[in-house]
Formats: sequence, structure tokens, C-alpha cells
Amino acid sequence: MDDSVVKKILVIDDEVYIRDSVIGFLEDFGFEVIGAENGRIGLERFEKQNPDLVLCDLRMPEMDGLEVLAAVTQKKSKIPIIIVSGAGNISDTVEALRLGAWDYIIKPIQDMNVLYHAVSKAFERAELLKEKYQYQKDLEKANKELTFSLETLERAQDQLVQSEKMAALGELVAGVAHEINTPVGVGVTAASFLEAKTSEFKKTYSSGQLKRSELENYLQTVEEVSNSILINMERAAELISSFKQVAVDQSSQNRRRFNLKEYISEILLSLRPRYKKTGHEIKVNCDENIDLNSFPGAFSQILNNMIMNSLIHGFEDMENGIIQIDITRREDKEDTILFIYQDNGKGMNQEQKEKAFDPFYTTMRGKGGTGLGMSIVFNLITQTLKGSIDCDSSIGNGVRFTMKFPEHWEES
Ligand SMILES: Nc1ncnc2c1ncn2[C@@H]1O[C@H](COP(=O)(O)OP(=O)(O)OP(=O)(O)O)[C@@H](O)[C@H]1O
Ligand SMILES: [Mg+2]
Repeated sequence: MDDSVVKKILVIDDEVYIRDSVIGFLEDFGFEVIGAENGRIGLERFEKQNPDLVLCDLRMPEMDGLEVLAAVTQKKSKIPIIIVSGAGNISDTVEALRLGAWDYIIKPIQDMNVLYHAVSKAFERAELLKEKYQYQKDLEKANKELTFSLETLERAQDQLVQSEKMAALGELVAGVAHEINTPVGVGVTAASFLEAKTSEFKKTYSSGQLKRSELENYLQTVEEVSNSILINMERAAELISSFKQVAVDQSSQNRRRFNLKEYISEILLSLRPRYKKTGHEIKVNCDENIDLNSFPGAFSQILNNMIMNSLIHGFEDMENGIIQIDITRREDKEDTILFIYQDNGKGMNQEQKEKAFDPFYTTMRGKGGTGLGMSIVFNLITQTLKGSIDCDSSIGNGVRFTMKFPEHWEES
């Protein structure tokens, strides 16, 4: 019981003798007690005085105890109410308890200590309820704050993933520019050579001294050089179209139909600038007839991350690393694609293996690693492609990622 403030009790009873003795008894215990001689007055005093507890008789003129109870609990649902009723009113007492009375005392009250006990028990319970309510409120508030921090964190992670994607796209664009430079450069050189040869030829022709051998010579040069221009321009066009597709897919979440084998070679073409000056090699074995209606961008990001990881981590101290990619339709299960990616690099220790998919886990902190690569791969495989991924690796034995995902599924 909270002893710091005097508790106010309203006693509603039409029998003056009982009312006065109850009031006197409770006042002796230091309570502030207000009396009321019937239900209607009781209710008026309840509203004016705002007591902490109500003691109420059941049988009263004007307004009986059950009506008072209903009106009081409607105004203040958590207020303790104790019914004081004659021994003959058992069914009304039961009804009163059902309506929200906290306790009851049988009249005549033979032992006033019973009354005191009921009153102090009710106050204790009210205090506990108040604490529980406060506790619940605090919990709800803490919960709200936690949810908010979680949302903020998730947003921050989304932003990071997004900027990671943009960085990958930026690198891709730089790689494209570099790769296309060669065929375009050769094309420009060949075209200007052709131009020089042609103006020389024109001069000789205008002077009327053109020899047959010079004509033949010129024609042969034109044929060779234009052929070289054609080959190089075709190469540039081919590079641009595959880069374009990979870049679009990498930046979007579009679902479309594509042949997995063809698409993987486009991805590898776009990654070639990253490893072509090294002795590393990428070998691909993919069933020809896997046509997916899926998210090509996911495959591009998965391979991008895995290959970059092999180049940066796996082949850190090696010159002739080998990446092997095997993609098959599982024989026992028609509908499942088995995608195995392995490298023969330095491998991972137990901790790296366990944490590789954790966001922000990296052994290259401060050296360009954010630790998001494999967690993005994990999310793409499990959420976008609705599949699974396992990592097998030990120090000195390279890594092996086994991925499985359904060939067909309906978007939910
Ligand atoms: N092929 C691999 N060989 C050896 N270790 C690897 C390989 N792939 C991943 N790892 C280990 O797993 C860690 C997590 O890889 P993840 O791609 O998530 O992060 P990261 O490459 O360090 O950084 P980020 O990809 O964000 O630039 C790496 O730091 C590395 O220790
Ligand atoms: Mg990485």
C-alpha cells in the first residue's frame, strides 16, 4: 500500500448505524472516509470526491448497489469496490462480483478486522495493478523504440547495399570503357590509314600516271583494312550489347526470360577486364537448355561478388588460380538447378567459413572490403531465387559454394 497520501474511501449504506460504525472504524486507521445514505447520493459524492475505494451496500432505496456498481465501474474501471451485503443476498453478491466488484463482506460485520483486511488487500491489489499497468506501458514504449531502431538499421543496411550496387556498377562502367577502347582504337587507326592511302591514290590517279600494279595494290589494302575495321567494330558492338544488358540487370530487379548459359558468358565477358592481365582462369560447364524466367540481375551480382572474392581473397598470393563453375539440372529432381562455384585459392579458416555470409564480416577491413558481398549473395539466393547456399572450405583447399534453386516458381 502506498502510505504517502491519505486514501479516500466512500461508504454507501442506508443503515445509519452500520454506516457510522464503518466510517469511525476506518477513520481510526487514518483513512479519509466519506459517507452516503443511498445509491444516488453515493454516485454524486463519487463524482465530486473521486475516492480511491468504494464500500457499497446492495439493497438500498432509490438506486440499488448493482446499479451503483455498474455506474461507478463505467466511470472508473480500475477502482476497487467492495460489496457489503446481507447474508440473504448471495445471488446478488455473485452478480456484483461478475460485474466487477473486487470483494464482498457479509453483514452484520461481526469482526471489524475482516473489513480492515478486505480494504487493505484491495488497496494492495490496486497498487500492484497500477505498477503492472505502468510496467506494461514502459515495455510498450521500449518495444516501440526498439522497433524504430531496427527499422533505422534496416534502412541503413538497405542504403549500404544500394551504394554497394552503385559502386559495382561504376566499376563495371570503367571496365567497359577500358575494354572497348582497344577495338575502337584499332578501328580509328585503320580508318585513318585508309584515308591517307586513298588521298595518295587520288593524287596518282589525277596525274594520269596510275599503273595497274598500283591499282591492284590499293584495292588489296582497301580490302584488308576495311575487313579489320569491320571485325573491330563488330567486337565493340558485341561488347557494348552484353555490357548493356548486364549493367541494366545489375541495377534493376527485373524478371525476364533468359538462357542461363548464354547469360553467364555475357557476365564473364563483362568481368574479363578484371582478370585478363593475370594468369587466372575461369572454366564454365553449364547445361545448354536451362531457360529461366528469373532475375538476371541476381545472377550477375552473385557471380560478380564470388569472382571478385576469388580474385581478391582466394588468389591473393597466387598467379594461376582456377575458378570452376558447374551448373546442372539435378537428375533426381527435375525442377532443381544445382550451381557449384569453386576456386582453388587459399581457402577460409573455420571462423571465416562460419561468418562469410554475415553482413559486414570482412578480413579486408580498411583495405576496401565492406563485408557485404557474401551477405548480398546469401539474400539473393535465398530470397530472390528462393534457394539455398552452402559453403565448404578449409585453409589451403579453396572454396566451394553449393547453391540450389528451383527452375520454376510463381511469384507470390
Ligand atoms: N573465395 C574466397 N576465398 C577466401 N576467402 C574468401 C572468399 N570469399 C570470401 N572470403 C572471405 O569471406 C569474407 C567475406 O566476404 P564478403 O564478400 O562478404 O566481404 P569482402 O569481400 O571482404 O568485402 P566486399 O565484398 O563487401 O567488398 C572475406 O573478407 C574473406 O575473408
Ligand atoms: Mg567480397
